[in-house]
Amino acid sequence: MKIGMIGTGYVGLVTGTCFAEMGNEVFCVDVDEDKVAMLRQGRLPIYEPDLKVLLHRNLRAGRLQFTTSLQKALDKGEIYFLALPTPPGAEGEADLSIVLQVVRQIAEHLAQQDLSKKKIVVNKSTVPVGTEEKVARIMEMAGASQVEVVCNPEFLREGAAVDDFMKPSRIILGVRSAQTASVMRRLYEPFVRQGNPIYVMDPRSAEMTKYAANAFLATRISFMNEIANLCDRVGADVDHIRKGIGSDERIGRFFLYAGIGFGGSCFPKDVNALLHTSMSRGYDFRILSAVLDVNSHQHEMLLNYVMRYFGGSVEGLTFAVWGLAFKPNTDDVREAPSHRVIGALLKGGACVQAYDPEAMDTTRQVLGDTVGYAKDAYAALEGADGLVICTEWPEFRRPDFAVVRQLLRNRVIFDGRNLYSVRRMAGRGFHYFSIGRPEGRPAKGGRKSWMYNPG
Ligand SMILES: NC(=O)c1ccc[n+]([C@@H]2O[C@H](COP(=O)([O-])OP(=O)(O)OC[C@H]3O[C@@H](n4cnc5c(N)ncnc54)[C@H](O)[C@@H]3O)[C@@H](O)[C@H]2O)c1
Repeated sequence: MKIGMIGTGYVGLVTGTCFAEMGNEVFCVDVDEDKVAMLRQGRLPIYEPDLKVLLHRNLRAGRLQFTTSLQKALDKGEIYFLALPTPPGAEGEADLSIVLQVVRQIAEHLAQQDLSKKKIVVNKSTVPVGTEEKVARIMEMAGASQVEVVCNPEFLREGAAVDDFMKPSRIILGVRSAQTASVMRRLYEPFVRQGNPIYVMDPRSAEMTKYAANAFLATRISFMNEIANLCDRVGADVDHIRKGIGSDERIGRFFLYAGIGFGGSCFPKDVNALLHTSMSRGYDFRILSAVLDVNSHQHEMLLNYVMRYFGGSVEGLTFAVWGLAFKPNTDDVREAPSHRVIGALLKGGACVQAYDPEAMDTTRQVLGDTVGYAKDAYAALEGADGLVICTEWPEFRRPDFAVVRQLLRNRVIFDGRNLYSVRRMAGRGFHYFSIGRPEGRPAKGGRKSWMYNPG
C-alpha cells in the first residue's frame, strides 16, 4: 500500500519505518527540515533501539522517503496517517491545533483531486473523544467526500517501540464502514500473524480506549507509589508487596514498581486530557485527580531523604545524578521526574553532575548549563556528596561499587528506582535510601545491617 505518514517523531518515524519494512511504500512528512535532512542521510534524530537498521534497509530499498512537502506525500499516498503532537493546552485539554491545521490542509488538497478515488485519513495521535467526527466534518465542509476517517491509537512504548509495533498486543480500529475496516485489517495483518487481535469498534470507543489504557497504567503506578509511601511509615517493604500481589493473576506483574513517579510525553498529558474531557462533561473523575496529585509529589519522597540525611539543607553540596530520560532506553526527557529532582536540588543551592547513556543532549536543550554533564556514570561521582538515581538504565544495575565508594565523598545513595538490594548495599558500606523500602545503613564493625525506616 502507499502510505503518507504526517509527523515523523517517536510515533510517526517508527510507524512509517515498520510499515515500509512490511513492503509498503511510505512517504514521511515533517515540518522540521533538520529532521528530514538527517533521516534522508540515514541518521536518526531520536534514540530508539533497533530502529536504525530498519531505517537503513528501507531507505536503500526506496520504500521509505522523507520530505517536508505535505503535497508530495498526499499525491503519492492512499492512506494518510497523522502522527502529530497533541500537547497539553492551558487547562490540561489535548491541544488539537496542529492536528486540525494539517487536516484542513489535507482537506483542501484532496477536494481538488479525483473524488472517485477513496482515501483514508488515520489518526494515530492521541486525541479526545469526538475528534474523528471533527476531522470528518472538516473533510465534508471542504468537499473532500472521498475521505473516510479512522481512529487508530498507538500503544508503542518508547525504548521498545519497534518490537511493540512489529508485534502489537492488539490493534484498535475506530472505523465507520466495513470496506475501510477491511483495508485497515489488510494493512495490519502482517503484524498480527501470531494471532493477536484486531478490534474494530466505533471511533469514539477507539479514542476512549487509548486514554483509558494510559490512565489505567498511570493509576497502577500512583497506587503502588502510595503503597510505598505507606510502607515507609509502617516499616514494610514495597518490593515484597509487589511480588505478593503481582503473582495474583487478577492483578498481574506489570506496572507495579514504586519510584519517583511517571513522566514522559504521554501519561501526564493523557491523564490530564482525560480529566479535562470528564470535567467538560460535568463528571468528576476523582481517581484521575488523585493519580496526578500523587505523581506530582512522588519525587519529593526521594528529596525528603536527601534533606534528612544532610540535616535540612543541600546548599553548597554536589550531587551525582544517574539517569535523565523519563525511562530507560530512550532519550526522551519530556516530563522526566529527573528534571524535577534536579530542579529542587539546584533551587536548594546544590550543584549537579549528571549522566545518562542517551539523554544528555535532550537534557542540555532543557537545562542548558545549569548542570554539569559527565562523560560517564563514574565521572559523575567524582567529588560528589551523594548519588541520586532517577532512571533505571541497565548499566546502573551492576556498577563497580568499590569504585563508587572511592569516588563519592559520602557513601550515600538515594535510589529513586529501587535498583539494589537494601541488605547488600548496607553490606557494601553504603547508606542507602530507596522508595518504600527499609533504609540501609552501613555495617558497623564489619557486621551487615539494615533497618526499617520509621518515616
Ligand atoms: N511517544 C509515544 O510513546 C507515544 C505513544 C503513543 C501515542 N503517542 C501520541 O502520538 C502523537 C505523536 O507523539 P510523538 O511522541 O511521536 O510526538 P513527537 O513530538 O515526537 O513528533 C511529532 C512530529 O510531528 C512534527 N510536526 C509538527 N507539526 C507538523 C506539521 N504541521 N506537519 C508535519 N509534521 C509536523 C514534529 O516536527 C515532530 O517531528 C501524540 O498525540 C502522542 O500523544 C505517543
